Amino acid sequence: MVVSTNSADLTIALGKKFYPFLEEKDVVIFQGALGGGKTTFIKGILLASGYRGEVLSPSFTLVKAYKKGKITFYHADLYRINSDDIFTTGLQDYMYSNGSVTFIEWGEKIIKQLPTYINLNFSYKGETGRYIKVSSKVLLSKRLKRLNNVFLK
Ligand SMILES: Nc1ncnc2c1ncn2[C@@H]1O[C@H](COP(=O)(O)OP(=O)(O)OP(=O)(O)O)[C@@H](O)[C@H]1O
Ligand SMILES: [Mg+2]
Repeated sequence: MVVSTNSADLTIALGKKFYPFLEEKDVVIFQGALGGGKTTFIKGILLASGYRGEVLSPSFTLVKAYKKGKITFYHADLYRINSDDIFTTGLQDYMYSNGSVTFIEWGEKIIKQLPTYINLNFSYKGETGRYIKVSSKVLLSKRLKRLNNVFLK
């Protein structure tokens, strides 16, 4: 499925729609173009969770944690990491763990090693337009249906 958005605000709105779909232990891969809107989408998710602070790509800190009740959202950015070094980052300690939901920007660097994920792939459609290609690996059919419905409303 491909979703399109014509502004940063619309991408934030898409992130907000995506929020209620998320479940504990989910891993969401954000891949695609520099400035494609990955962080903007994640900001939408975090806004829907009630977070009101700044959201930046944690490309230097590698990961930032946002706590919301029983769930901790981990926001990782692998832009500056070599594929070979990823498992020295500690990512594997929180990914898929109880109470976690993990977002990984530049997640294509790790995707082949993941047993299950939701994948959002961003590409440009002009200056302020973006396509977001939605796919997944091993979601239960019920969830797959929900994923397809997320962006239809
Ligand atoms: N439709 C759109 N959706 C999202 N961002 C948009 C859109 N149109 C323009 N923009 C602008 O593009 C930029 C997207 O930046 P953002 O940090 O979200 O991208 P990113 O994919 O996380 O980039 P990076 O790979 O550098 O981390 C912002 O400056 C935003 O205002
Ligand atoms: Mg980013």
